[in-house]
Amino acid sequence: MSLTAEEKAIIEKTWSLMSSNAKENSVDLFIRFFTENPSYQKMFKSFADVPMQELRGNKKIAAHAAQVVFAISALVQFIDDTDCLVEQLDKIAERHQKRKVTPKMFENLGTSIVGWLIEKLGTDIMNEQAIEAWKKLYGVILNVVTKHMEEDNEDKTNSDK
Ligand code: HEM
Repeated sequence: MSLTAEEKAIIEKTWSLMSSNAKENSVDLFIRFFTENPSYQKMFKSFADVPMQELRGNKKIAAHAAQVVFAISALVQFIDDTDCLVEQLDKIAERHQKRKVTPKMFENLGTSIVGWLIEKLGTDIMNEQAIEAWKKLYGVILNVVTKHMEEDNEDKTNSDK
Protein backbone atom coordinates (compact mmCIF):
# COMPACT_ATOMS: atom_id res chain seq x y z
CA MET A 1 0.00 0.00 0.00
CA SER A 2 1.54 3.25 -1.09
CA LEU A 3 0.46 5.74 1.54
CA THR A 4 2.89 8.57 2.15
CA ALA A 5 4.16 9.35 5.65
CA GLU A 6 1.93 12.42 5.63
CA GLU A 7 -1.13 10.38 4.66
CA LYS A 8 -0.40 7.85 7.40
CA ALA A 9 -0.18 10.66 9.96
CA ILE A 10 -3.52 12.04 8.74
CA ILE A 11 -5.17 8.62 9.01
CA GLU A 12 -3.84 8.10 12.52
CA LYS A 13 -4.95 11.55 13.67
CA THR A 14 -8.44 11.38 12.17
CA TRP A 15 -8.99 7.83 13.41
CA SER A 16 -7.97 8.68 16.96
CA LEU A 17 -10.52 11.51 16.94
CA MET A 18 -13.20 9.21 15.56
CA SER A 19 -12.55 6.21 17.77
CA SER A 20 -12.62 8.22 21.00
CA ASN A 21 -16.40 7.76 20.76
CA ALA A 22 -16.39 4.50 18.83
CA LYS A 23 -19.54 2.93 20.24
CA GLU A 24 -21.93 5.76 19.38
CA ASN A 25 -20.14 6.64 16.14
CA SER A 26 -20.09 3.11 14.75
CA VAL A 27 -23.89 2.81 14.92
CA ASP A 28 -24.16 6.12 13.08
CA LEU A 29 -22.02 4.64 10.32
CA PHE A 30 -24.52 1.85 9.80
CA ILE A 31 -27.52 4.13 9.94
CA ARG A 32 -25.85 6.14 7.15
CA PHE A 33 -25.00 2.93 5.23
CA PHE A 34 -28.63 1.74 5.31
CA THR A 35 -29.99 5.21 4.50
CA GLU A 36 -27.73 5.38 1.43
CA ASN A 37 -28.46 1.74 0.48
CA PRO A 38 -31.96 0.93 1.80
CA SER A 39 -32.10 -2.63 0.42
CA TYR A 40 -29.07 -3.77 2.49
CA GLN A 41 -30.88 -3.73 5.83
CA LYS A 42 -32.96 -6.71 4.61
CA MET A 43 -29.81 -8.86 4.55
CA PHE A 44 -29.57 -8.67 8.33
CA LYS A 45 -32.25 -11.08 9.49
CA SER A 46 -32.15 -9.92 13.08
CA PHE A 47 -33.09 -6.32 12.27
CA ALA A 48 -34.38 -6.51 8.70
CA ASP A 49 -37.74 -4.98 9.56
CA VAL A 50 -36.78 -2.65 12.40
CA PRO A 51 -37.75 0.96 11.46
CA MET A 52 -34.76 3.24 10.89
CA GLN A 53 -35.53 5.42 13.94
CA GLU A 54 -35.44 2.34 16.21
CA LEU A 55 -32.18 0.94 14.84
CA ARG A 56 -30.03 2.96 17.22
CA GLY A 57 -31.01 0.81 20.19
CA ASN A 58 -30.58 -2.52 18.39
CA LYS A 59 -27.84 -4.75 19.88
CA LYS A 60 -27.22 -6.71 16.67
CA ILE A 61 -26.56 -3.63 14.58
CA ALA A 62 -24.26 -2.34 17.33
CA ALA A 63 -22.37 -5.66 17.21
CA HIS A 64 -21.87 -5.61 13.43
CA ALA A 65 -20.98 -1.92 13.44
CA ALA A 66 -18.39 -2.61 16.15
CA GLN A 67 -16.86 -5.45 14.08
CA VAL A 68 -16.43 -3.13 11.13
CA VAL A 69 -14.90 -0.41 13.30
CA PHE A 70 -12.51 -2.99 14.85
CA ALA A 71 -11.43 -4.04 11.36
CA ILE A 72 -10.69 -0.42 10.45
CA SER A 73 -8.81 0.10 13.73
CA ALA A 74 -6.68 -2.97 13.01
CA LEU A 75 -5.92 -1.66 9.54
CA VAL A 76 -4.89 1.72 10.97
CA GLN A 77 -2.69 0.05 13.62
CA PHE A 78 -1.03 -2.24 11.08
CA ILE A 79 -0.79 0.44 8.44
CA ASP A 80 2.84 -0.53 7.70
CA ASP A 81 2.27 -4.28 7.78
CA THR A 82 -0.99 -4.97 6.03
CA ASP A 83 0.11 -8.50 5.03
CA CYS A 84 -0.89 -9.85 8.41
CA LEU A 85 -4.37 -8.41 7.98
CA VAL A 86 -4.97 -9.96 4.60
CA GLU A 87 -5.75 -13.36 6.03
CA GLN A 88 -8.28 -11.85 8.40
CA LEU A 89 -9.92 -9.95 5.55
CA ASP A 90 -9.96 -13.15 3.46
CA LYS A 91 -12.03 -14.83 6.16
CA ILE A 92 -14.40 -11.86 6.30
CA ALA A 93 -14.80 -12.06 2.51
CA GLU A 94 -15.50 -15.79 2.65
CA ARG A 95 -18.14 -15.51 5.37
CA HIS A 96 -19.83 -12.58 3.66
CA GLN A 97 -19.90 -14.24 0.26
CA LYS A 98 -21.93 -17.05 1.78
CA ARG A 99 -24.41 -14.39 2.85
CA LYS A 100 -24.61 -12.99 -0.69
CA VAL A 101 -22.70 -9.83 0.17
CA THR A 102 -21.00 -8.56 -3.04
CA PRO A 103 -17.84 -6.51 -3.70
CA LYS A 104 -20.15 -3.64 -4.75
CA MET A 105 -21.69 -3.65 -1.26
CA PHE A 106 -18.22 -3.45 0.28
CA GLU A 107 -17.41 -0.61 -2.13
CA ASN A 108 -20.54 1.24 -1.03
CA LEU A 109 -19.54 0.74 2.59
CA GLY A 110 -16.32 2.60 1.75
CA THR A 111 -18.35 5.54 0.38
CA SER A 112 -20.42 5.59 3.57
CA ILE A 113 -17.26 5.47 5.72
CA VAL A 114 -15.81 8.54 3.98
CA GLY A 115 -19.18 10.39 4.29
CA TRP A 116 -19.36 9.43 7.96
CA LEU A 117 -15.83 10.69 8.68
CA ILE A 118 -16.69 14.02 7.02
CA GLU A 119 -19.96 14.26 8.96
CA LYS A 120 -18.31 13.54 12.31
CA LEU A 121 -15.04 15.44 11.92
CA GLY A 122 -15.99 18.29 9.58
CA THR A 123 -14.29 19.39 6.36
CA ASP A 124 -11.49 21.31 8.12
CA ILE A 125 -10.14 17.98 9.39
CA MET A 126 -11.54 15.76 6.63
CA ASN A 127 -10.16 17.94 3.83
CA GLU A 128 -9.37 16.72 0.28
CA GLN A 129 -6.03 15.25 1.35
CA ALA A 130 -7.61 13.35 4.25
CA ILE A 131 -10.36 12.03 1.97
CA GLU A 132 -7.77 10.74 -0.51
CA ALA A 133 -5.79 9.06 2.29
CA TRP A 134 -8.92 7.29 3.57
CA LYS A 135 -9.92 6.17 0.07
CA LYS A 136 -6.46 4.62 -0.35
CA LEU A 137 -6.67 2.85 3.01
CA TYR A 138 -10.16 1.49 2.42
CA GLY A 139 -8.92 0.39 -1.01
CA VAL A 140 -6.91 -2.28 0.85
CA ILE A 141 -10.07 -3.81 2.33
CA LEU A 142 -11.84 -3.58 -1.00
CA ASN A 143 -8.98 -5.16 -2.99
CA VAL A 144 -8.60 -8.13 -0.66
CA VAL A 145 -12.34 -8.76 -0.41
CA THR A 146 -12.94 -8.38 -4.17
CA LYS A 147 -10.01 -10.63 -5.08
CA HIS A 148 -11.13 -13.31 -2.66
CA MET A 149 -14.74 -13.22 -3.88
CA GLU A 150 -13.72 -13.34 -7.56
CA GLU A 151 -11.32 -16.25 -6.99
CA ASP A 152 -14.01 -18.10 -5.09
CA ASN A 153 -16.42 -17.62 -8.00
CA GLU A 154 -13.79 -18.90 -10.47
CA ASP A 155 -13.23 -22.00 -8.31
CA LYS A 156 -16.96 -22.71 -8.29
CA THR A 157 -17.23 -22.22 -12.09
CA ASN A 158 -14.29 -24.56 -12.68
CA SER A 159 -15.64 -27.26 -10.40
CA ASP A 160 -18.96 -27.14 -12.33
CA LYS A 161 -17.18 -27.98 -15.59
C1 HEM B 1 -14.98 -4.20 6.72
C2 HEM B 1 -16.19 -4.60 6.50
C3 HEM B 1 -16.94 -5.63 7.30
C4 HEM B 1 -16.56 -6.35 8.42
C5 HEM B 1 -15.24 -6.29 9.17
C6 HEM B 1 -17.68 -7.21 8.77
C7 HEM B 1 -17.67 -8.10 9.84
C8 HEM B 1 -18.68 -8.98 10.13
C9 HEM B 1 -18.64 -9.97 11.19
C10 HEM B 1 -17.43 -10.20 12.09
C11 HEM B 1 -19.82 -10.64 11.18
C12 HEM B 1 -20.28 -11.75 12.14
C13 HEM B 1 -19.51 -12.98 11.97
C14 HEM B 1 -19.81 -13.71 10.70
O1 HEM B 1 -20.71 -14.51 10.72
O2 HEM B 1 -19.14 -13.46 9.69
C15 HEM B 1 -20.62 -10.09 10.09
C16 HEM B 1 -21.89 -10.50 9.75
C17 HEM B 1 -22.65 -9.97 8.71
N1 HEM B 1 -22.24 -8.99 7.82
FE1 HEM B 1 -20.50 -7.96 7.86
N2 HEM B 1 -18.72 -6.99 7.89
C18 HEM B 1 -18.31 -6.05 6.97
C19 HEM B 1 -19.03 -5.54 5.91
C20 HEM B 1 -20.29 -5.94 5.55
C21 HEM B 1 -21.04 -5.45 4.42
C22 HEM B 1 -20.53 -4.42 3.39
C23 HEM B 1 -22.24 -6.07 4.41
C24 HEM B 1 -23.35 -5.86 3.41
C25 HEM B 1 -24.41 -5.24 3.57
C26 HEM B 1 -22.26 -6.99 5.55
C27 HEM B 1 -23.29 -7.84 5.89
C28 HEM B 1 -23.28 -8.76 6.94
C29 HEM B 1 -24.41 -9.62 7.28
C30 HEM B 1 -25.75 -9.67 6.55
C31 HEM B 1 -24.01 -10.37 8.40
C32 HEM B 1 -24.86 -11.37 9.19
C33 HEM B 1 -25.44 -10.61 10.35
C34 HEM B 1 -26.47 -11.34 11.16
O3 HEM B 1 -26.84 -12.46 10.80
O4 HEM B 1 -26.90 -10.74 12.15
N3 HEM B 1 -21.06 -6.87 6.22
N4 HEM B 1 -19.89 -9.08 9.48
